[in-house]
Amino acid sequence: MPAQQKRPRQGIAAIFALLGGLILAVAGWMWLSPGMSQRVTGQAGIGGPFELVNGDGKPVTERAWQGKYLLVYFGYTFCPDVCPTTLNEVAGAMEQLGPKTDRVQPLFITVDPKRDTPAVVKQYAAAFSPRLVGLTGTMEQVSKAARAYRVFFTLHAPKDAARPDEYTVDHSSIIYLMGPDGRFVAPIRADLAADAMAKDIARHLP
Ligand code: NI
Repeated sequence: MPAQQKRPRQGIAAIFALLGGLILAVAGWMWLSPGMSQRVTGQAGIGGPFELVNGDGKPVTERAWQGKYLLVYFGYTFCPDVCPTTLNEVAGAMEQLGPKTDRVQPLFITVDPKRDTPAVVKQYAAAFSPRLVGLTGTMEQVSKAARAYRVFFTLHAPKDAARPDEYTVDHSSIIYLMGPDGRFVAPIRADLAADAMAKDIARHLP
């Protein structure tokens, strides 16, 4: 092929390559910029309405605390270490929030409703703080709420078949701060000590 015919095609190919690169660069920038990546990962869609059962065995929805910030944590009362440690720090953080504490309602939602009956979650939550409310429900209700909050959990088979009630549950350990309008505000790290947790929560409260 003569050189004169080849050159225009190469030119067109180069323009397409340049355009392709530009599109990739813009897409990459959109992905990396904080506002955009939040929309891309759908973080803003965390949470939502739920139907659960409170410590008195009564049906309850998020509307019970309308106008308040919600501090939502999923776990289970038989959890050997992570849940009790986290809830202890949450209880401490609530005390350190000072005057802002009345604007925040901490919720502990079990992912193990089979063992965590209303009475069990009520007693468990109260042992950490009188402010902490424990919630349970049917497995379907709990799973639905967990899905809305992007919380994953897996029930392990009991190690000893003779003790079917002795099993562990793997679960995501993250605290969600929800706004008075029910919208997701921020994730709060569950491994923070009470004072750091209180500061993190407080900076989101106007
Ligand atoms: Ni746990």
